[in-house]
Amino acid sequence: MEVDDGDEVAVESTDMTTTSRHHFGDSSDTSDAFFITIIESMKEEYGLFVWPCSVVLAEYVWQQKSRFLGATVVELGAGTSLPGLVAAKLGSDVTLTDDSERLEVLANMKRVSRLNNLKCKVMGLTWGVWDAPSFDLHPKIILGADVFYEARGIYFLSLKNGKPCCLCFQKCSGHHLIEFLMMKWGLKCVKLLDGFSFMPFCKASSLSGNIQLAEIVYNGEQVS
Ligand SMILES: C[S@@+](CC[C@H](N)C(=O)[O-])C[C@H]1O[C@@H](n2cnc3c(N)ncnc32)[C@H](O)[C@@H]1O
Repeated sequence: MEVDDGDEVAVESTDMTTTSRHHFGDSSDTSDAFFITIIESMKEEYGLFVWPCSVVLAEYVWQQKSRFLGATVVELGAGTSLPGLVAAKLGSDVTLTDDSERLEVLANMKRVSRLNNLKCKVMGLTWGVWDAPSFDLHPKIILGADVFYEARGIYFLSLKNGKPCCLCFQKCSGHHLIEFLMMKWGLKCVKLLDGFSFMPFCKASSLSGNIQLAEIVYNGEQVS
């Protein structure tokens, strides 16, 4: 489901809505430093805020900027969309996606894209629901922050284009373990980094948890 950019989005102004500003690059070097403003909502029915994995993935995108110039990028389960917005700022053609049922999340994506003067496409893409528009996506790079508890979307998009997915996730155990999900969906990890190994100190100091960054590709064999 593509969300029409012409739709007017009601901006709900309540004390549950706030904005946060995220800086990239050295602000003393004005040539390529920038910031992204995110609208967050702490309403009880749905949490719409920047998760720590998103901060780490956005920094990784910034540090890998040469890969993103002119690239077609899809962000899965984007929520407040910080990594995708950074990719758009670096010159990518970005489609931000989230659960088709979460209209408030999709509407917020349009608002943050406009707020940052970016032209991201916004699309409902529910993992495991393969409607026609989702098959028309041909991303060069897929981004996903804190979405690896459910790998169906990632499996489909990797299979389609064989290109890397950059994912950030909290390391956890049991059936949410990355090794389990990758084996299940025929994925192969080609890069695995401790999220804190490349974060600037000023950003890392406000984060907690065991955050890892993986680049994965489709491996060609799906285990039942
Ligand atoms: C933990 S949040 C992470 C949000 C954002 N990536 C971040 O890191 O700030 C998980 C996101 O996945 C989305 N999501 C959950 N289930 C989904 C599904 N079945 N299909 C598509 N998106 C889904 C949620 O709406 C939410 O935005």
